[in-house]
Amino acid sequence: MSVPTVPTPSPEQLKLIERGRSVLPGGVCSSTRFNQAWGRPVYASRAKGSRFWDIDGNEFLDMSMSHGAALLGHGPDCLRDVFDKVWELGLMCSLDGPYHIELAEQLCEIVPCAERIRFTGSGSEATLHALRLCRAVSGRDKIIRFHGHFHGYHEFTFIGGHPPADQLDAKPPYRESAGIPKALAELIITAEYNDLDALERLVKQHKHEAGTILIEPVDYNCGAIPPEPGFLEGARRLANEHGLILFFDEIQSFAKKSPGGAQQDFGVTPDICTIGKSLGAGLPLSAIAGKAELMDRFKPVGDVAHSGTFNAPLPSILAGLAFVRAIRTPEFWQHIHSLSDRLGRGLNDISQRSPIPCRFQTHGSRFGLTFGTREPVKNYRDSLCHRREVMLEFCRQTTARGIYFHDYGGGPCHHGFSTAHNAADIDKVLQVVADSLNAMAVR
Ligand SMILES: Cc1ncc(COP(=O)(O)O)c(C=O)c1O
Repeated sequence: MSVPTVPTPSPEQLKLIERGRSVLPGGVCSSTRFNQAWGRPVYASRAKGSRFWDIDGNEFLDMSMSHGAALLGHGPDCLRDVFDKVWELGLMCSLDGPYHIELAEQLCEIVPCAERIRFTGSGSEATLHALRLCRAVSGRDKIIRFHGHFHGYHEFTFIGGHPPADQLDAKPPYRESAGIPKALAELIITAEYNDLDALERLVKQHKHEAGTILIEPVDYNCGAIPPEPGFLEGARRLANEHGLILFFDEIQSFAKKSPGGAQQDFGVTPDICTIGKSLGAGLPLSAIAGKAELMDRFKPVGDVAHSGTFNAPLPSILAGLAFVRAIRTPEFWQHIHSLSDRLGRGLNDISQRSPIPCRFQTHGSRFGLTFGTREPVKNYRDSLCHRREVMLEFCRQTTARGIYFHDYGGGPCHHGFSTAHNAADIDKVLQVVADSLNAMAVR
């Protein structure tokens, strides 16, 4: 019996990889686009719906979906109307108009904490500017954040998120990239997710210098860890009692299980949040959303700078309106919930039977995968059992069978489907996941 393998690149693809390497570091435009499971960049020729094709024409059923940004599928039809409209109106870069206001109004209706909105391009920009605002409003520079959570690649937060096991208690916390000044790490206080007692101790100890509790309310970036019952409520209570700002980073969790994000899913309203990824239906669009008393500290009302030539370009705003229109229909959620139930049930069943210990955790349209345990993963410490090399082999096995899981350097991260996926796609994914795990066991 022949064993499926990752497609061998054609001579043309190998040449392109060489050209890529000579002008782009590692041949890629984003460091994590170098696929460590494949040992090379993934170069795509096109993508449509739930599929993409590599430059040799191999078809993949996509279970990354642009890390969640392509929740409406690759190249959804609504974007054709967006581009037509942009052509009709003119690109209007650096100009606001009625569409910006309309999208902000709609988000204020959908997202529980939203009374004011500021748009940004990437999620990293959103968390950066939101944290500056939190520091200005609280008057305190230190941020309490959690191991295993991710808030973008900038100097404010790429600290203490995913430290190696021997750096968990490092003081100042572990810097996740070279080039991040130690002085900025001194401003970060790390906590373990879902441990309310520990959070309470930290808040009491640091309330004179820490003004913000920053949470990824569903920790998608460490295997889709949901909050334990009472944890978000407890964080809300502590923030109220001790005068800290509660900040939910919902760049990923926005519109994954309900339109209003995790704050709607779990019924806990933060003071401020960031939303993004799928908001632009595949175009770059994120936003800071929060209570008026905080958000009105942004200039020109207040004294906190936030500006940018490319803030809120018309194509992204029109795409945002199309996305919001979609998530305000019951059919959208019927489809998401039915696929999510089918996938979640199937993956749980597979993990019970899998010869390789693994744990799947699903929240809405995305799920995490942790190797090395079948037990619930509740925080970063639990996830340290994860085996990177097993994850990379899993990615190779599934790729060889036509399903693309992004490798995340082998880390326990998140994967998911879009509204362009159907029940047959999910069944195919389940079959391939089961076959891949079985194949890994006999190697
Ligand atoms: C929770 C969270 N915050 C922030 C970001 C950064 O967003 P971006 O990649 O758009 O800069 C991400 C991206 O994965 C995220 O998941």
